[in-house]
Amino acid sequence: MFCMSARLNVNIDHVATIREARKTIEPSIITAAVICEQAGANGITVHLRGDRRHIQDRDIELLRDVVTTYLNVEMAATDEMLLIAERTRPDAVSLVPEKPNEVTTEGGLDVIGNFDVIKNAVERLKAAGVFVSIFIDPAAEQIEAAKNAGAQQVELCTGEYAELTLGSRAMHGDGERRAAAEVERIRTAAVHARSLGLIVAAGHGLTYRNIAALAAIPEITEFNIGHNIISRSVFVGLSQAVREMIVACHLGKP
Ligand code: PXP
Repeated sequence: MFCMSARLNVNIDHVATIREARKTIEPSIITAAVICEQAGANGITVHLRGDRRHIQDRDIELLRDVVTTYLNVEMAATDEMLLIAERTRPDAVSLVPEKPNEVTTEGGLDVIGNFDVIKNAVERLKAAGVFVSIFIDPAAEQIEAAKNAGAQQVELCTGEYAELTLGSRAMHGDGERRAAAEVERIRTAAVHARSLGLIVAAGHGLTYRNIAALAAIPEITEFNIGHNIISRSVFVGLSQAVREMIVACHLGKP
């Protein structure tokens, strides 16, 4: 049986982005996590990047103590990151690709091209009792490679869908058709991943405006959403921004 509604993990990286802009102590990532949980989020997601541009090592340790729902840490499959995960043991690790100068994660991890490294990382994380998700493009061969590497979950990259639905793009020219085709690509991937026994998450660039079509896909049982929620929180407060996204995640469900 599928869940009737998908879980929402709020990615709070950009609370730390504001803090790191001044290398100071506020806004508190811990306060942010607690507010998200109290507003009904099912979990907290953070990305510990190699360049430490937002989340810091200490944040992971503090969040591990404070988060009572579900702590999902995104990281590259490097020895440095795996040691941190083995020590702090978040509930889940999502393996993601990382390029030094990228503004944000650019597409999914190439599991096929980095199979041995990823399989080894998955084994280490599972041995430490950590649930393992791999962030991949919605492509059958990557899903199968993630399964063969031992992942328990795949997170389908919605970056392409986010690009196609940005602003009014989906309303012009063949924008609507292209966005609908991308939804179908994601749906097909989600069905395929479920058929292999994988749990299916989705994330990247999702917003209050574009999530409904994906929320209607029953195979997707988790969303990881950050930038849009934190952006809205500037104007309406974090608690309300989270509550609105929870409603948006549920709207597509039958
Ligand atoms: N999922 C993954 C794997 C990511 O790397 C990110 C960005 O850190 C997100 C979800 C959240 O993306 P956004 O901030 O665009 O909602």
